[in-house]
Amino acid sequence: MSKAAEYLLELEKKDFRILQSIEVGMRTSEHVSIDTVVEFSKYTLDEVIKRIDGLHFKDLVSRWKGHYVGYQLTHHGYDVLAFRALAERDSIIAIGRELGKGKESDVFYAFDTKQKTVVAKIHRVGRPSFKRSKKLRSYVGRRGHINWLYKSRLSAEREFEGLQLARKIKAKVPNAIDQNRHIIVMEYFEGIELVDAYDLTKPLKIFNGIMSQVRKLFVKGNIVHGDLSEYNIIITPKFDFLIIDFPQYELASHPNAKEYLFRDIKNLCRFFKRKFSIESDPNEILDVIYNEYEEKLKKKKK
Ligand SMILES: Nc1ncnc2c1ncn2[C@@H]1O[C@H](COP(=O)(O)OP(=O)(O)OP(=O)(O)O)[C@@H](O)[C@H]1O
Ligand SMILES: [Mg+2]
Repeated sequence: MSKAAEYLLELEKKDFRILQSIEVGMRTSEHVSIDTVVEFSKYTLDEVIKRIDGLHFKDLVSRWKGHYVGYQLTHHGYDVLAFRALAERDSIIAIGRELGKGKESDVFYAFDTKQKTVVAKIHRVGRPSFKRSKKLRSYVGRRGHINWLYKSRLSAEREFEGLQLARKIKAKVPNAIDQNRHIIVMEYFEGIELVDAYDLTKPLKIFNGIMSQVRKLFVKGNIVHGDLSEYNIIITPKFDFLIIDFPQYELASHPNAKEYLFRDIKNLCRFFKRKFSIESDPNEILDVIYNEYEEKLKKKKK
């Protein structure tokens, strides 16, 4: 279970308010002073000091000592705020064990009010490295302190949008349930990543199915996945598939969309050739999809 999940139950309303005050303070200052927290939270100085010490002990905030003493949210602190918001909206009622860990995300099982398993994906873009020394960290530019927080939230928002756009045209993607800050909640699908699927009974059928989704996303949905590969496709126990991981999506009207589309197609052609000896021509597939897209645009203009 994540540290945030553990603390979610222990923290009191006032602790959340303190964390929120620090979050707001971080927009304008690198290290949020106690006075700022007092001002935003409207709690007494004694109360704030007592609470902040507790939050610091739990590693939900980090302390800086310069010409004054200031605080920042740690990523655990940011997790706590997002999870609490999601729980208050009843999007999730509990968080389970880790389901996957990416370079830029931590993925957890979670449960909704009907005890159904869902997925909570925590975006971690520009994750502060724990190995980096304190000294090094202090060299990070003026807004370096807020970068990871901002970029992670942006990434989650983007993925949520991408999933919604794909879902609108009934593409094979998980249903996006909710998003708060840097966390998205989505439908869970049992399965394994395509890269680990050694015994696909009908690989050609899966390959054609995926390409037809790529086409549908582009022509009908006006989007390109942008990071499509054997790592971002889930194969279900019944040999159906699902496309995941949408933060890099782009609109088909984007100047580089065709290039991204080609890259996605090439990745899949290469993988299916290497692993299942399926021969295909990525240029040809690109042409078919792109021509169809352009035809559609022309018709619209008429
Ligand atoms: N909706 C889902 N249902 C089942 N498993 C999922 C779901 N979403 C993610 N997973 C699992 O978690 C893993 C990581 O998720 P995802 O690919 O979205 O992020 P990521 O690859 O970690 O992100 P990044 O590319 O930024 O490193 C997936 O490969 C998959 O095994
Ligand atoms: Mg992925």
